Amino acid sequence: MTIYKVVEYPNPRLRIPSKPVTEFDEKLRQLVEDMFETMYTASGIGLAAPQIDIHKQIIVVDLTEDKSDQKVVINPKITLKEGSASIDEGCLSVPLDYRAKVERAAHVIVECFNEKGEPYTIDATDELLAICLQHEIDHLQGKLFIDHLSTLKRSLYDKKLSKYERYKRRAESAS
Ligand code: NI
Repeated sequence: MTIYKVVEYPNPRLRIPSKPVTEFDEKLRQLVEDMFETMYTASGIGLAAPQIDIHKQIIVVDLTEDKSDQKVVINPKITLKEGSASIDEGCLSVPLDYRAKVERAAHVIVECFNEKGEPYTIDATDELLAICLQHEIDHLQGKLFIDHLSTLKRSLYDKKLSKYERYKRRAESAS
């Protein structure tokens, strides 16, 4: 079992587009298991492989509190988007536990594969699931939820983060 370190913004490695999975082997199944453990350890509800510096189209999602609905979403394609919804989104790769609303579709249909290479369809009529899938699929394209914010909101966040990083560096050099 490996708990991975989650890559954080503004690390440019989060911007690398992910490649489709071609081998559905034991190695992939181990990686998927480790991704779930990494996600649960960080108290997340979704994790995309680029967040652990692996640039493959792999997502794990579990919206439950008792780890009872593990979804493995490989090589996803959104084939339908409708309606609109937004919630306060956060991301394990976005520091300071920053949260903000992003305009998303309320219902999506996603065609994808499981860890055995079997194709299946997720009809996400539940808004939280629909939003979570859109958020994670963005990661595979090197996109973060903060990229959807207005220029003003985004620059306020960037300022806050760089202030925090300066403070952290000062604290480190003083100790
Ligand atoms: Ni995220």
